[in-house]
Amino acid sequence: MTLSAEASLKPFNTFGIDARARYMARFDSRDALLAVFDESRLQALPHMILGGGSNVLFTDDYDGVILKNEVRGIACIEEDDEHYYVRAGAGENWHHFVLHCLAQGWAGLENLSLIPGNVGAGPMQNIGAYGVEIKDRFHSLRALEIATGRVKEFDAAACAFGYRESVFKGPAKGQYIILDVTFRLLKEPRLSTHYGAISSELQRMGIENPGIQDVSRAVISIRESKLPNPAVLGNAGSFFKNPIVDEERFVGLRDRFAEMPHYPTEDGKYKLAAGWLIEKAGWKGKRMGQVGMHAQQALVLVNYGNASGRELWEHSQRVLEDVQEKFGIALEREVNVIGPVEV
Ligand code: FAD
Ligand code: EPU
Repeated sequence: MTLSAEASLKPFNTFGIDARARYMARFDSRDALLAVFDESRLQALPHMILGGGSNVLFTDDYDGVILKNEVRGIACIEEDDEHYYVRAGAGENWHHFVLHCLAQGWAGLENLSLIPGNVGAGPMQNIGAYGVEIKDRFHSLRALEIATGRVKEFDAAACAFGYRESVFKGPAKGQYIILDVTFRLLKEPRLSTHYGAISSELQRMGIENPGIQDVSRAVISIRESKLPNPAVLGNAGSFFKNPIVDEERFVGLRDRFAEMPHYPTEDGKYKLAAGWLIEKAGWKGKRMGQVGMHAQQALVLVNYGNASGRELWEHSQRVLEDVQEKFGIALEREVNVIGPVEV
């Protein structure tokens, strides 16, 4: 365990916000993590677990302990006729993990290529892209229960996965530290290329019989063309979730905006595209000082330079209120806001 006081968080969040933490403790094993909790000077302070910092917005300095998860290791721990069971440490970089699996011929994560962040945060919001969510390839995870210091195993049902949701973002928020995640990967690939952009990208690449590496390359190419690279322009991906509305609300909107993208859900509701709503409301590419919604993807809030977390949050609030006024839809933030906010 390494402990630093008054640590700058700038290199540790993809918005590039220059906040400070009273302490940052980096740990690479369960025992090292327990040593952090044994440190008497840290015990009275609040703490938060940080992975790659690609889904957090710090609105102020953090007057507590940032627990930086660096638990590593990737291993195939079991197999049956159809699957490889692959365990990865929570501190493994997600995309490197996906590439490693692809190189071994372990299929199933190709659509989730190039998502920033670490393995441990994946189940937290059930990361998803291009028609696949982590829940589709998930077997179990092990997490340290902070109150007892015990390690508990969660299967998929216990994780209560939903769209950008899990028990760790809901009722069990702040109670567990995910140490590792085990995936159920496929021996025989089952490609998921129904998401329109993937098939057209594969066509553009001239590939007729794609393999998992081809799908991964197509996804990477689409993502690179749409999403800003946090190393160049601070952002945390989609800032809001896509809203899910009931049929009555959907029909009312569709009558006003026939061209509005929409996706029926399994329970008879409709998912709408927050990016479309934000663009339609006039925020796409509109810059206010150091902040704005991205010019190529209106769902992505960007830091054009040295914006503070507070400024970014205030901008998100302006957009949220305007969308509410124009469409009667309350957007929900997908990004985890850490620190005080004023509405
Ligand atoms: P962090 O930002 O460090 O943490 C996120 C939350 O998880 C925090 O509340 C933190 O306390 C908690 N947490 C982190 N690690 C643990 C742990 N070990 N145990 C318990 N809690 C933990 N997301 C998608 O779903 N799909 C996308 O397509 C996508 N695209 C993106 C594109 C860009 C350019 C960016 C910047 C982000 C994108 N994201 C996407 C969001 C982000 O990459 C994911 O949410 C990712 O899983 C966050 O990982 P992280 O390690 O950076 O988490
Ligand atoms: N759209 C617009 N204007 C925009 C952006 C989007 O009209 O500025 C429209 C598009 O034309 C399309 C629809 O909105 O009809 C959906 O857009 P897109 O396919 O780009 O996906 P998204 O809904 O904006 C979601 C996820 C992404 C994920 C992609 C691909 C959420 C909140 N976001 O974005 O995840 O990568 O689909 O599957 O569900 C993230 O969570 O951080 C993230 C980037």
